[in-house]
Amino acid sequence: MALTWQQPLPEIYNQLSDAELRLRIESAKEALGDKLVILGHHYQQDAVIDFADFTGDSFELSRKAADQKGIEYVVFCGVHFMAESADILTPENVRVILPDLGAGCSMADMANLEQVEECWAQLEEECPDQIVVPITYMNSSAAIKAFVGEHGGAVCTSSNCRNVLEWALAKEGSGKKVKILFFPDQHLGRNTAYAMGYPLESMVVWDPRDGLGGNDPKALREADFVLWKGHCSVHALFRPEHVDQVREKYPNMKVIVHPECRWEVVQKADEAGSTAYIVKRIEAAPPGSEWAIGTEVHLVNRLKNEHPEQKIIVLSDCQCLCTTMYRIDLPHLCWVLENLVEGRVVNEIRVDPHTRKWATVALERMLAIKGNGNPIGKKQPAGTTVD
Ligand code: 13P
Ligand code: SF4
Repeated sequence: MALTWQQPLPEIYNQLSDAELRLRIESAKEALGDKLVILGHHYQQDAVIDFADFTGDSFELSRKAADQKGIEYVVFCGVHFMAESADILTPENVRVILPDLGAGCSMADMANLEQVEECWAQLEEECPDQIVVPITYMNSSAAIKAFVGEHGGAVCTSSNCRNVLEWALAKEGSGKKVKILFFPDQHLGRNTAYAMGYPLESMVVWDPRDGLGGNDPKALREADFVLWKGHCSVHALFRPEHVDQVREKYPNMKVIVHPECRWEVVQKADEAGSTAYIVKRIEAAPPGSEWAIGTEVHLVNRLKNEHPEQKIIVLSDCQCLCTTMYRIDLPHLCWVLENLVEGRVVNEIRVDPHTRKWATVALERMLAIKGNGNPIGKKQPAGTTVD
């Protein structure tokens, strides 16, 4: 895919007031009518969410994109890898637009195709008698999803990671040892595998900057999970001591975190689950419930505003904001919509045909796997820690 950069917005869009932007966005939406669907990820700012036809986590939104009939444009208010997935899952004639091309994901950028191919070659050489199944988190480039599709693996999201890992591990039927290569988020991989009953010793971390990922050959061969050394810079801000502080200050408060948080945080929390799980959990909780939530601050604040009958706080006051998600704002949304009204498609996200073909295989494998939405359970042997 050709690399494109965000062009500066025409100055007028920065000069308009919020009220003016809102009016112009509404009238552009009206003019585009049924041709357009706007998708908004839960981490988007409220002003943008106001204009979304559907909101959800990356899994729900990828399904929504796939379900739309007869539309011409998807404006994806989220980050680059989500818009790529929407392009892959929608028919060829549907044009997918990301309002700001600078809205990337630092985690997705931690694994590139060249590094993954290099890792694969080394694993094939070291473990020739094993079945290695590559699983990539939705938060990865289309090129990596395609690699996974071409090599017998699948995509997963934080909503269905466990189900996808169970599907992959069931390949064991052949009598060969199955090894999972999981990227790019080591934490989601570790938290999920651990909840499935795999001990930490059955996992190694693959550092793409080191020979054999920084592992010795024996450890690599014996591992059930090879976890790519990637992480989310937002969820990494939550630390175990934040859970301790909440426990001390609010003894009745439950702690719920996203599984992109580090293992020690998940172990100390009461519950862990995808953004969709967190949303459902709060929606179903009785009045008077108290929650400290370890995920992106826009979602936490939205839940807090929507549920004044509960006490809701962010797990830490570290300003856990996804700055790339935050790039999508009213001026950019207005600009892309007004261009569409004029018949110009700006900021289109297009995945090339070869990548599309194989990434579709990986995404469709995920969509076919049943039983999504289970939270990450946890068990804690005394004294265990992860670097
Ligand atoms: P979800 O899969 O829960 O939407 O997470 C996406 C994401 O980017 C979380 O950081
Ligand atoms: Fe990527 Fe983390 Fe932002 Fe999600 S919150 S889009 S994983 S940087």
